[in-house]
Amino acid sequence: MPKLKTSSFSLDSAKGFEPQRHREHGAKQLLIEIQGTELHLGGKIFFGSFLRIFPSVLSVSLWFNFIFKCSFTLVCSRIFKTSVPSTAMSISRSSLAFTLIVLSANFFSLARGAELRERINFDSDWRFLRGDSPDAGDSLGYLKMKPWLLATGTDLINVGVARPTRPSGDPGSSISFVQPSFDDSTWRSLNLPHDWAIEGPFSQDLPGETGKLPWQGVGWYRKHFRLDPTDTNRRIALDIDGAMAFSNVWLNGHYIGGWPYGYTSFQLDLTPYVKLDGDNVLTVRLENLHDSSRWYPGSGIYRNVWLVKTPPVRISHWGVFVSTPRITPESATINIDVYLENTTSAKASLAASTQIFEIDSAGQPGLQPVASSEHRDIEIDPAKDLDGMRSLSLEIPHPKLWDLAHTQRYLAVTTIDEKGKPVDVVKTPFGVRSIVIDPDRGLLLNGQHVLLQGVCLHHDQGSLGTAVNVRALERQIEILQKMGCNAIRTSHNPPAPELLELCDRMGMLVMDEAFDCWRLSKKDADKTAAEPFYRANDYARVFDDWHERDLRALIRRDRNHPSVVMWSIGNEVIEHWHADGWKMAAHLAGIVREEDRTRPITSAFNGEQAGYTGFQTALDIMGYNYKPNAYGPFRHANPAIAVMGSETASTLSTRGEYFFPLTANKLDGWINFQVSSYDLSASEWANTPDDEFRGLDRAPSALGEFVWTGFDYIGEPTPYNSDSTNLLNFTKPEDKERAAAELARLGRLQVPSRSSYFGIVDLAGFPKDRFYLYQARWRPDLPMAHILPHWNWPERAGQITPVHVYSSGDEAELFLNGKSLGRKHRGPLEYRFRWDDVNYAPGELSVVTYKNGHEWARAKTRTTGSATKLLLEADRPQLNANGQDLAYVTVKIADNTGDVVPRTHNSVNFELTGPGKIVGIDNGDPTSLESFQAHTRKAFNGLALVIIKTETGKPGTLTLRTTSEGLASAEINLQTHL
Ligand code: GAL
Repeated sequence: MPKLKTSSFSLDSAKGFEPQRHREHGAKQLLIEIQGTELHLGGKIFFGSFLRIFPSVLSVSLWFNFIFKCSFTLVCSRIFKTSVPSTAMSISRSSLAFTLIVLSANFFSLARGAELRERINFDSDWRFLRGDSPDAGDSLGYLKMKPWLLATGTDLINVGVARPTRPSGDPGSSISFVQPSFDDSTWRSLNLPHDWAIEGPFSQDLPGETGKLPWQGVGWYRKHFRLDPTDTNRRIALDIDGAMAFSNVWLNGHYIGGWPYGYTSFQLDLTPYVKLDGDNVLTVRLENLHDSSRWYPGSGIYRNVWLVKTPPVRISHWGVFVSTPRITPESATINIDVYLENTTSAKASLAASTQIFEIDSAGQPGLQPVASSEHRDIEIDPAKDLDGMRSLSLEIPHPKLWDLAHTQRYLAVTTIDEKGKPVDVVKTPFGVRSIVIDPDRGLLLNGQHVLLQGVCLHHDQGSLGTAVNVRALERQIEILQKMGCNAIRTSHNPPAPELLELCDRMGMLVMDEAFDCWRLSKKDADKTAAEPFYRANDYARVFDDWHERDLRALIRRDRNHPSVVMWSIGNEVIEHWHADGWKMAAHLAGIVREEDRTRPITSAFNGEQAGYTGFQTALDIMGYNYKPNAYGPFRHANPAIAVMGSETASTLSTRGEYFFPLTANKLDGWINFQVSSYDLSASEWANTPDDEFRGLDRAPSALGEFVWTGFDYIGEPTPYNSDSTNLLNFTKPEDKERAAAELARLGRLQVPSRSSYFGIVDLAGFPKDRFYLYQARWRPDLPMAHILPHWNWPERAGQITPVHVYSSGDEAELFLNGKSLGRKHRGPLEYRFRWDDVNYAPGELSVVTYKNGHEWARAKTRTTGSATKLLLEADRPQLNANGQDLAYVTVKIADNTGDVVPRTHNSVNFELTGPGKIVGIDNGDPTSLESFQAHTRKAFNGLALVIIKTETGKPGTLTLRTTSEGLASAEINLQTHL
């Protein structure tokens, strides 16, 4: 549970701890960030404001004091015709002197305040409209805007390469939505982050591959804001952590720039067009092109936005890089590369220095530095494009290392001084840890072997869509860690910065991935625009112009995170099927190495030959997707290169669905748009978890695996991916026949599937059976056992109903109604206990497992009674009233004894009172086209989920009431606190 921090520092991944100011309706408020979540703290807001005005209040009162005393003295001298009492005059003189000191201090603090940087959350009070400006025509499309767009982010293009410059003209400035005077009062008012498509509606006619949601098309955002008069002579920039996609931004009617790749964080310089004395209007146009994604990409400004004020001579954007090249128990060498920028017209003579503080377990930096560098002089020419760089080196005595169990971090406070006066400060959290990739021994973290027990994740948060929410991400990690997962692959794109902050804090390793395709599109050459899998607009379209910027942006933003242990330059890129594809791999790896030489580089391949055609030479780690038998041969041929399962399994299942009979064919078990949960079904290219485990156990030098996927995600509902004419989706002759008849009748298939079946955990966050198969392997010391399937099969009496048990034990005995069905030993390369010939009889199934001959763990499941009531369970009873915090409430359809009744699909109504709102509902059914925002939901196999968001600054009691026809209703109270 996030803990409240009580200082005005905020933990920002890029800039470190920065004071945050937040404006709402013109009022300034101090914002406190709570381990990645922002909170308004009433008392602190008052205290912060008081501190700001305290010097002025003090000076005014002292002036009053001085004037009063002078007058008093004068009056006295007139009345009593005496000379001025010396004590009174001396008091007045001391008051004057003190006042002058305070006034000058006040002046200097104002002057200094005006120079030091601020990063202000800019998420509130936006206006939004779905659709395009009526007068835009095709004038704002990518190709039309490209010449101007290409002038954005050119500081990410390396020296020696021609950087595009901005052509003359102000594109879009005549479009009505761009005009500062345009009346946007009828547009929807909202706060970011925002995903416009998650509200749906789902449509059967939209492609299942991208979730049957309306993410394509154009959307506009506008925001009015004012600046401080004291902002004169500061650079004003806009940081967008991610906007999907093809953004173009104008300020006060002038074109500023934009970014095509919706996953990259970028900064735009607003300085030339800001007004210090009136209303400023920011306008953002986004466009999501058809056939641009293989999964649900979301849409809108779906990540956080910041206004950044810096001095004209400053530390560059992402301009501090901390590395820890030498670590011993006695000391750690900390290298700090500081990049500086001068946007004045004069040469700047600066000194750079860094102090390092320990960050305590509450996230607070200590008061005394543990190390301080010397001041290093540097002169910077007045050329905006040329960064100056200064390296500093420090030693931390007896360093506390960052690892998965102890996530100790430090804070590097880097200051640049001009003429002895600080002009800019950047605070960068980092960890002291070493990463070594040893091809024979695997991944060594601080010298200790760590097997990658990882999962791949797409970026949506189920029913919340792609709009980033720290608690939603944190919950995902909590669930994954319970399974024993220790690593996340951000497939196949840069993640939200908040995810990395959480991984640093919670102890997860990250494979940070850049691209799903390079220059060659994943477009299926045989397809036309009317067919699925025609991806004419994927990243390949902009690769040549943008890959360098996107790749450098990713690395500069993320290279201070101890959790990030490797960079991935791509996933299953088409180039790896081509003889000269390795050249592009070498080019991209070169860019990565220029930005960070401390981490290994990998890439994920589904073609085994990439390990032998030169691709491997560009990489430090060869990543194989779904090739459990390729690790050994690869290592034999490439003894100097490490190997891992960059993407494994792609096992398919639906929570709570079991189909019979069980066969050895992985293409079986697909019925009625669901997939059997025996964890034996997989697509042609994919494997069961057991096969992947076997591959890894046979190649112990492999680094481990990243399972596809940790959670179900919206889109890519393989094996029901295509809903036009693809009969290959059906494996059973009778299903195929039914589908063929429908195809003949309708001209297409009515496939409702809109989210994946790959997840170990379903879209609502409910673990599937597989969760326990991974837990059994990944947490061998946890006594656990899990039985599948459920035991409610009235129609199967006397029929063979296989029972499988997942356990970290090595022996298991199964009992049906107290009668032993045999004790089994799990041999080498076996990962589950199977009783495939159990005749179903209602009652109780129970298992006793053993490890090394001793009893280890027990589990049981029983035939339940019929459903009689609802039960509610919240993930956390206490919430922060910060407008961001979430409660996840599980709704269970239970029998009299409180056991969840499987196969129930009762419709449940939700009603919430108190300071919060229902922001998402779900049940984990990949075929449900019910709205994620409704207040009614059918349970799916006994469960449903309600997600509640708190309101900003409103503490109190939230009461969720749930009702369902024929069942006893239930309610739950949650407390929200300031
Ligand atoms: C992989 C691909 C993933 C996902 C997966 C499904 O080949 O890299 O993005 O599509 O297949 O099995």
